[in-house]
Amino acid sequence: MKKVIAIDGPSGAGKSSVSKAVAKELGFYYLDTGALYRAVAYHFLKIFGSNKDFTAIPEEEIKKELSNIKIIYDKGEVYLFSENITNLIRDPLVGTATSQLSAKKVIREFLLPLQREFAERHNTVAEGRDMTTVVFPDAWKKFYLDASLEVRAKRRYEQLLSLGKEITFDEALRDICERDERDSKREESPLIKSKDAFYIDTSNLSFDDVIKIVLKKVAEES
Ligand code: DC
Repeated sequence: MKKVIAIDGPSGAGKSSVSKAVAKELGFYYLDTGALYRAVAYHFLKIFGSNKDFTAIPEEEIKKELSNIKIIYDKGEVYLFSENITNLIRDPLVGTATSQLSAKKVIREFLLPLQREFAERHNTVAEGRDMTTVVFPDAWKKFYLDASLEVRAKRRYEQLLSLGKEITFDEALRDICERDERDSKREESPLIKSKDAFYIDTSNLSFDDVIKIVLKKVAEES
């Protein structure tokens, strides 16, 4: 295992942009584990359609379907078989399905080796919900990024608008609340702050300030 900087936190806490910038600054690779879960959900949406209740699919059925999937993560781009689905997985519909499907043990087990193999090959900044607790419990550095509900909803709203998605602020807020509930209350690898993760509330911090804090912390304890 190379050096891993593991970053967890809820939706909209700023993990992706911070992780990318920290990785660039340190010459590490960036691993967006949410993108892997989204790739699986994208496939399931294609197979079962958007009216399917994904929480109700039996594990056996999911397992069978997973054996047909090939997901590749390369330089921040995600491929399902040979199709580059990096932008397609940002659709809010995929986000909702992902939040439901990521609670499934069989899917988490399927994606675990992909994440660890990546970190076997590269010094990595890995972000997600269970980086510090389950996937990389022995990570070199651990962080938990947080922000108030309102700030996170505002960020999500602006992010989706910039991607050309039609959404109201109230919808973004509801989406964040539902995800918080599902991601932190599920049985399998729930989002929790591990004891040894350094906590940063980004609500009132500029992006540059967050980067500075993370880099300082990384350098301090090296
Ligand atoms: O970070 P994101 O918004 O792309 O994540 C999408 C969903 O995937 C989110 O609802 C939680 C889930 N996820 C997870 O369960 N574990 C991870 N390591 C990363 C994401």
